[in-house]
Parts: sequence; structure tokens; C-alpha cells
Amino acid sequence: MENEFQDGKEEVIQAWYMDDSEEDQRLPHHREPKEFIPLAKLSELGVVSWNLNADDWEKDENLKKIREARGYSYVDICDVCPEKLPNYEAKLKNFFEEHLHTDEEIRYCLEGSGYFDVRDQNEQWIRIAVKKGGMIVLPAGMYHRFTLDSDNYIKAMRLFVGEPIWTPYNRPHDHLPARKEYVDKIINRGGNQTVEAR
Ligand code: LAC
Ligand code: NI
Repeated sequence: MENEFQDGKEEVIQAWYMDDSEEDQRLPHHREPKEFIPLAKLSELGVVSWNLNADDWEKDENLKKIREARGYSYVDICDVCPEKLPNYEAKLKNFFEEHLHTDEEIRYCLEGSGYFDVRDQNEQWIRIAVKKGGMIVLPAGMYHRFTLDSDNYIKAMRLFVGEPIWTPYNRPHDHLPARKEYVDKIINRGGNQTVEAR
């Protein structure tokens, strides 16, 4: 399943190493010169992604296949923009606190765009830009943060296996079993083979 629905993925998901400037989190934060990261590198970190037809998500057989294969029984849809989300600026700051979850974070961009930031094996921030049609899974135990970009709009489907648990554990939470598993499986593994996500 990890290798399906990859056609045209570079159009909807891009990744690059971030600079370390303190400017607005919504800016792209490219390094100078830009350092793009092949999407294969993301799968080494345990991040799974697909390109799907967001115009037809309600009838999309490919989405159905992914949900069945990975047990994503729960879905909801969030509209995130200043007009619809009370305390938008404060929430944006919250999403941008580095944290992890004890389950996968699964997001499918139906409209708009956003940035998911994750760290590579050497703790460097990688910015993953997701646009309409891009769906990504951040594995349990992986530190990350999220922000809208300067367009300030994303409509995202959230998926989950069973009853959702959205609890963020802000860094550091290295003693959690989910973190230990992630470190054992991904970080301490050498990082040069493709991970078969579960
Ligand atoms: C989440 C994003 C903010 O946990 O990472 O929903
Ligand atoms: Ni999260």
C-alpha cells in the first residue's frame, strides 16, 4: 500500500531542509541555496504519503483501499483559516509546538495547503509542504509540528485507527514507549533502507 498512488506526488508533496531563522513560521524557510529532499528520504524516516483525487474523495476507491488496508476507520474534516477557527493565531502557535503522538498522525489535504515539519536522523528540521491531493502519515513517536503557510487555509481530513486520540506530547517525551519504538526502528537503524510501515 505504501507504494501505491504515487503518480504525480511531487506536485502535491515537497520536502526541504529548513533554515533556522526566527521569521514568520508561515514562510517557506528554505535554506540558501534551497535543499530539496527526495520523497524517498521521507519514507526512510517512516513517513508514508500518497497522491489522491481530492475532488472526488467521497467516492474515491483509492482512498477506500488505503483506509481498509491500514484500518483507518475514523475520519473527520477540519477547515483551518482565520475566519473559521476561533483564536486562530494562538492555535497556530500551539500546532507549531514540537510534539509527538502515541499513534500515527494521518492527514489528507482536500483544499489549500500546509507545512508539516519533522526531524531527520540528525535532528535537522525538514519541512513537508502538502497541497490539495497530498495525504501523509507521520508515524507514532515522531516529533513534528504543523503550520499553515502564508495562504492561511487548509481543509484537511483527519483519519485514525479506531477512537481518535489527539493528545500532543510536547518535546521532550522521550520515555514514552511510542517514542522508544520510533527511535529503535527508525533512528538507530542506520537510515538507508526503505521502511515498511505497518
Ligand atoms: C496535530 C498537528 C498540529 O497534532 O500536528 O494535529
Ligand atoms: Ni501532531
